[in-house]
Amino acid sequence: MPISLRISGLSKVYNSSVVIDNCSYTFQAGSVYAVMGPNGCGKSTLLRICSLLESPTSGSISYYAGDNELAYDMRLRRMMTLLLPDIGIFNTTVLKNVEYGLKIRGLSRKSIYDASCEALELVGLTHKMSQNALLLSSGQKRRLGIARALVIKPRLLMLDEPTSAIDVENTEIVESAILRIKQERSSTIILSTHERTQADRLADKVVFVENKRLSQDGF
Ligand SMILES: Nc1ncnc2c1ncn2[C@@H]1O[C@H](COP(=O)(O)OP(=O)(O)OP(=O)(O)O)[C@@H](O)[C@H]1O
Ligand SMILES: [Mg+2]
Repeated sequence: MPISLRISGLSKVYNSSVVIDNCSYTFQAGSVYAVMGPNGCGKSTLLRICSLLESPTSGSISYYAGDNELAYDMRLRRMMTLLLPDIGIFNTTVLKNVEYGLKIRGLSRKSIYDASCEALELVGLTHKMSQNALLLSSGQKRRLGIARALVIKPRLLMLDEPTSAIDVENTEIVESAILRIKQERSSTIILSTHERTQADRLADKVVFVENKRLSQDGF
């Protein structure tokens, strides 16, 4: 079941400079949101706060499964993942990079292997699975990042500029993987992008971060 999250009166201040000012917004379960706005407006900051990697200066953020509010515990943290543009690749095979997220979640060997192969297939990296991941091209590394994020079947998936600085072919593979998850409606997805056309292709709703505030653009 996908998670919904509600941010209430959220503010973030860095060194007395206000980045996000008293924002409230609800991300509904199973929907796809594209967060847009100029460089430095606070998109990555918002994603880090929503993924519990950073605390807001004030305000709150609540997570729900249906009507049940979820406690801030390891279980909740393991239901969500934030994929950053510069993902940390482990110095081992592509397959082991994908399997890692499931190993720490204590699944059986066979289900770890099967789920990892499926995730690699989805991003077109099956033929690279035995290769050292550090040798992948930057576009392939991005796809590996998507596979690592997807394999854990997150109920809240956050992607910070998932296709920045990669070519059209890699972008299409990443976008189609995102659209596959969207189809299943098993995850709530929040991604940031600078491309309006990408936002329109992928998202149900576009959220703008501008002048420290959030606003929604319906279409
Ligand atoms: N850890 C930090 N300490 C101090 N300032 C920070 C920190 N993180 C972000 N900032 C500042 O907060 C503002 C928002 O940064 P953020 O990275 O969230 O923007 P962004 O919208 O993701 O930009 P971009 O489109 O360039 O990725 C910027 O002015 C940035 O310098
Ligand atoms: Mg950013």
